Amino acid sequence: MDTLISNIKQLVNTREESKLLRGTELSVLPCIENAFVIIEDGTIVEYGVMSSLKHQTSNFKQTIDASGQFIFPCWCDSHTHLVFAASREEEFVDKIKGMSYADIAAKGGGILNSARKLNEMTEDELFNVSWKRLEEVSKLGTGAIEIKSGYGLTVEGELKMLHVIKRLKDRSALSIKSTFLGGHTYPLAYKEDHQGYIDLIINEMLPVIAKEKLADFIDVFCENGFFSPEETETISKAGMRYGLKPKIHANQLNFSGGVETGIKLGAVSVDHLETVNGDIINKLAKSETIGTLLPTAAFFLRMPFQPARQMIDAGCAIALASDYNPGSSPSGNMNLVVAMSCSGMQMLPEEAINAATINGAYAMQLQNEVGSITAGKKANLIFSKPMPSLAYMPYSFGSNLIDKVMINGEIA
Ligand code: NIG
Ligand code: FE
Repeated sequence: MDTLISNIKQLVNTREESKLLRGTELSVLPCIENAFVIIEDGTIVEYGVMSSLKHQTSNFKQTIDASGQFIFPCWCDSHTHLVFAASREEEFVDKIKGMSYADIAAKGGGILNSARKLNEMTEDELFNVSWKRLEEVSKLGTGAIEIKSGYGLTVEGELKMLHVIKRLKDRSALSIKSTFLGGHTYPLAYKEDHQGYIDLIINEMLPVIAKEKLADFIDVFCENGFFSPEETETISKAGMRYGLKPKIHANQLNFSGGVETGIKLGAVSVDHLETVNGDIINKLAKSETIGTLLPTAAFFLRMPFQPARQMIDAGCAIALASDYNPGSSPSGNMNLVVAMSCSGMQMLPEEAINAATINGAYAMQLQNEVGSITAGKKANLIFSKPMPSLAYMPYSFGSNLIDKVMINGEIA
């Protein structure tokens, strides 16, 4: 056999079967103390308490002693814009001086700033900067990730981004899902001709994307000043006709109607949710749609955190993601996302870990592959440094508590 990991202080999120967790289920995090894991061909084949281990250590090509260590399934980051051309720290300084996200967007900054830079870059250059970011987040424990287009906003630019995501998928050992976000903002050329840009998405972008199989999901930024609920629905339905499932940017800055639109479309997830009320939360709780919360975006834009506590108590299925992008969350560090969810959104450590692993896997439709310690799933594992308890991880938010990361059974 390939690998035995022995003497694990605590093996976290062990599940015989996957299940999307909602409401009170999120606080149940099954763990095994003093555990082992056996890996064959990059896959978890067996796990349990050390006392039940039937095999001799000599039967394994490799044995890893994890004394004192916690082992978690790798983070499943279900919402990122990791493919972008350049950072935007000048806007960060503008924000410190008092400008809002909407003010910056209105003067041609924001998404349009990123689009200008991306369209000036070659595909190879874009791949190289994106690859570095992917390597960085995988060292921080991310084992599965969704990446969106949306900084091209031209046929060539959007296809360039999606080709880069495809190359990342082909080269990386991480599980990667691709989302077409042509409806991120209206490019300047179509500022007064919204229908013209929607036609471009539907008639010029989507047929090529479908033919080349460049996307798994379709996303639209449903927000005042960006795409209306009706426009969101039109674009999403066009993508759905090609088999792309919707994941919608909803209710970030305003009561945009995004959550209701996402639910109506049967979206896999509605993401952001800074601006919601009890009525919207109840609608989400009654639906099959996952609410994906992005606390680092709220933090970075100095907005109130998403009401996670209220959403969980209402019975919603919650996932956590980084929103890694140069404008609203220039960090793909899921450890920070988990810590911030506990300290800023009153999520219990167990709830945050479930939301960032198994529910994140569901939000990418990767639940049969990743997100828990389950026989048959990929051996994508985070080995912690010695820690006194599980809660120490989100508590000690500024420390790097990762000793090593394993992807597909190999130490990365
Ligand atoms: O998810 N809200 C829309 N899109 C991104 C930000 C994009 C940007 O500012 O570049 C987000 O926060
Ligand atoms: Fe986003």
